[in-house]
Amino acid sequence: MEKTFVLLKPDALQRGLVGEILARFDRRGYRFLALKLLQTTEAQAAEHYGVHKGKFFYEDLVKHLTSGPVIAMVLEGSEAIAAVRKMVGATRPPEAEAGTIRGDFGQAGLRNLVHASDAPETAAAEMAIYFDESEFVASERAIDRWIFEDGE
Ligand code: CMP
Repeated sequence: MEKTFVLLKPDALQRGLVGEILARFDRRGYRFLALKLLQTTEAQAAEHYGVHKGKFFYEDLVKHLTSGPVIAMVLEGSEAIAAVRKMVGATRPPEAEAGTIRGDFGQAGLRNLVHASDAPETAAAEMAIYFDESEFVASERAIDRWIFEDGE
C-alpha cells in the first residue's frame, strides 16, 4: 500500500467538480487517509511549489493556489503515486488524454484542477505541508479484501 498526496485546486471548487473528482478516486478503491478543506497560505503555496520558483508560471501558480479554498487529501492504494498521476493526466490539459481528470475537464496549465505527487519524496513532503500526521485516520474497510491483494 502506498500513500499519495492530492490537492483539488481553487478552480475545481469554483467549478463544482469536487464530487466528480472525489468519486473517481472513491470508485477506483482508494482509501481516504485524510481530507480537508482549507485556504492555502502564501507560505504553504511557496513551499509546495518551491521547485518551480523562477519559472515563467511560478507567480501565477502561487496566486492561483491562494485564490480560494482548496481540498487537500491523502489517498492510500496500490502503487498509488503513479496510478493517481495517470488518473489526473498530463500537466497541460490540452495534452491530457480523454478519460483523465484534466483531459475531461481542463483547458489550461494554470487551471488544471488537481495536483498529485510525482514521487515518494514529494508525496511525503507535500503531506507534511498540509497535514499533521495526527490528522490521519487509518481504517480498514470490509471491502478491502475484494480490492487489494492479500498482504497489501
Ligand atoms: P501541478 O501538477 O500542480 O504542478 C505544478 C503546476 O505548475 C502544474 O500543475 C501547473 O498548474 C503549473 N505548470 C507547470 N508547467 C506549466 C506550463 N508549461 N504552463 C502553465 N502552467 C504550468
